This record gives sequence, structure tokens and C-alpha cells, in this order.
Amino acid sequence: MSSVIAIDGPAASGKSSVARQLAEKLGHLYVNTGNMFRGVTWAVLNAGFDLKEKEAIAAYASELKLEFVNEGGHIHMLVNQRRLTDAELNSEAVNGAVSHVAQVSEVRTRLVEEQRALVARGDLVMEGRDIGSVVFPDTPHKFYIDASEEVRAARRSKQGLNDTVAMRDKLDSTRKTAPLIVPEGAIRIDSSDLTLDQVVEQVMGELRSRGVA
Ligand code: CDP
Ligand code: CDP
Repeated sequence: MSSVIAIDGPAASGKSSVARQLAEKLGHLYVNTGNMFRGVTWAVLNAGFDLKEKEAIAAYASELKLEFVNEGGHIHMLVNQRRLTDAELNSEAVNGAVSHVAQVSEVRTRLVEEQRALVARGDLVMEGRDIGSVVFPDTPHKFYIDASEEVRAARRSKQGLNDTVAMRDKLDSTRKTAPLIVPEGAIRIDSSDLTLDQVVEQVMGELRSRGVA
């Protein structure tokens, strides 16, 4: 059985940057589940759905052709055989819509299934909102990366991205299915006053003490 390191946390807490570095250091595959929700959202918007048409979105998402390719240790999702660009995945339109699409339970069921199937590819560092709580609740390696709302908003604007961090946090934390929570047994790291390297070192230190790294 492959080992899974689960990294969860709110928007712009540093999850992706930390998870990417960990995966590289450990030689695990890196999986960004936020990009999967973003990819489905891009397709939903591109097909012209209104976000209120939950049933139609559910049916459309169940039919989407999703494939996963390994590009240098990073797993990327192809949507109807299309490799979406970072600009498409992180566009203002997708930022504004993704937390609505992520509330549709059929979308979550489909993506959780795909995420679990990725263990067949090897050891994983997987990051998102519900990895330690729902996708891999049995993994012993769970981390929750946090930072204050001000710090997170500042990080996004420094990246030059127009993002509704507070709105997404609210929707993600209050939704009925798989809300953002600190999973049971997770180690919580507040990165507000830490550099990226310091966060990575804290996680690596913990993994070393467990004999994983
Ligand atoms: O990078 P950032 O933290 O801003 O967001 P992301 O990880 O790319 O996720 C985008 C959105 O997808 C989140 O705001 C959630 O609505 C949804 N998401 C989710 O519901 N479950 C996950 N495991 C990952 C993302
Ligand atoms: O994946 P998530 O949305 O949680 O965050 P990210 O995209 O990894 O990080 C957002 C930005 O914050 C990036 O530009 C990181 O370099 C930066 N960051 C930071 O300045 N200090 C940290 N301790 C963590 C991330």
C-alpha cells in the first residue's frame, strides 16, 4: 500500500508550495486536488452553465472525461483530453465559481473516487481541503497549514492574483459535504510568521521522527 501525506488548509495558506517541496524531497508524487475542482469548474463555465443549475452541473460533471498524467512527478488532470493552463485554472472567473461547483455532491463523489485511485501510481503528497478528513482518513500523516486571513489575502495579492479568499473560505468551511476542518490527528502549523522553508522543515522534522523521511 502506498503512503499518503495529507496536507489541508484554507486558501493561500501555503499548502501547494509546501506540498510541492515535500513531494520533491520525499520522491513522492504531488497531487493538487484544488486544481481538479478548478478544472471541472473551468469546463462547467466553458459549457455555459449557470451556477444555480446544480442538477445539470452534477450530470455534466459525471460525464466529463478525466485523465491523469504524470509530468515530472506532478499529477495533472486532463479535462476532455485538454491540459488546462495555470492561467485558465487560476482565472478570476474560476476563483469566483469554484467553491460553488465544489459544493455539488456528485462533483465531490467523482473527484474523491479519482483521488483515491491515484494511490495505484505510487506514494503521494496530496493537498486540498478534505484529504485528511474524507479522502484518506486512515493515513497517519496529516498536516493542516494555516495563516491569518490578512496574511493570506496579502500573499495572493503579492502573487498578482485577484482572488476572493475570504468568500471561498466561508463557503468551503460552512458547506454540508466535506467542509474544511482540521482533520482528527492532524498537526496544525500556523505559517503566518514563518517562511516557506521553515514550514517545510517543520513537516520534514515530524516525518523524520516517524521514520518516513
Ligand atoms: O490554492 P487555493 O487554496 O486558493 O485553492 P485550491 O486548493 O486551488 O482550491 C480551490 C477550491 O476548490 C477551494 O476553494 C474549494 O472550494 C475547492 N476544493 C475542495 O472543495 N476540496 C479540495 N480537496 C480542494 C479544493
Ligand atoms: O496552495 P495555497 O493556496 O494554500 O498557497 P500557495 O499557493 O502555496 O502559497 C501562496 C503564496 O504564499 C505563494 O506565493 C507562496 O510563496 C507564499 N507563501 C509565503 O510567502 N510564506 C509561506 N510561509 C507560505 C507561502
